[in-house]
Amino acid sequence: MKRVLTYGTYDLLHWGHIRLLQRARAQGDYLVVALSTESFNEGKGKKTYHDFDTRKKMLEAVRYVDLVIPEDSWDQKISDVKRYEIDVVVMGGDWEGDPRFEVLTDYCDVVYLDRTEGISTTKIKRDLGINA
Ligand code: CTP
Repeated sequence: MKRVLTYGTYDLLHWGHIRLLQRARAQGDYLVVALSTESFNEGKGKKTYHDFDTRKKMLEAVRYVDLVIPEDSWDQKISDVKRYEIDVVVMGGDWEGDPRFEVLTDYCDVVYLDRTEGISTTKIKRDLGINA
C-alpha cells in the first residue's frame, strides 16, 4: 500500500482543490491531508472563512481523501512522514523547490503537481468583492 501526504488550507473548496486531491490520491492508495489549523494560519497572517472542524468535515466528504490530520507548524513534516509511513508527499507546483519540502526527499518521494489555472480561494474572494 502506497501512502500519500499533502498539505493545505482548503478553505473555500473549489475545482482546483478537487483536481489536486484526485491527482494526489492517484499517486498511491491512501491519501492523508494535513490541514492547516487556525493558529497556524494566524501565524502566516492568513484568515479562513471556515473553521478547522468545518474544513476537516468538507475534506473528509471528498472521496479521494482517506485521513485528515492537523497541520500546526512548519516543523512537523518529517515526523508526519515517519508517523503515517508516507511514501510520497504531493504539493501544488507553487511550492516547487521550497526547502521546507525539498528536505523531505531524504525520507520519501516529493512530487509537485501543476496548479489548476484561473482559480484560487483568494481569487474567489476577490471576484466576489470580499476584502479578506
Ligand atoms: N491548488 C491547485 N490549483 C489551484 C489552487 C490550489 O492545485 N488553482 C492546490 C495548492 O497548490 C495546494 C492545495 O491545492 O496544494 C491547497 O491549496 P490552498 O492554498 O488551500 O488553496 P488556494 O485556493 O490556493 O488558497 P489561497 O488562494 O488562499 O492561497
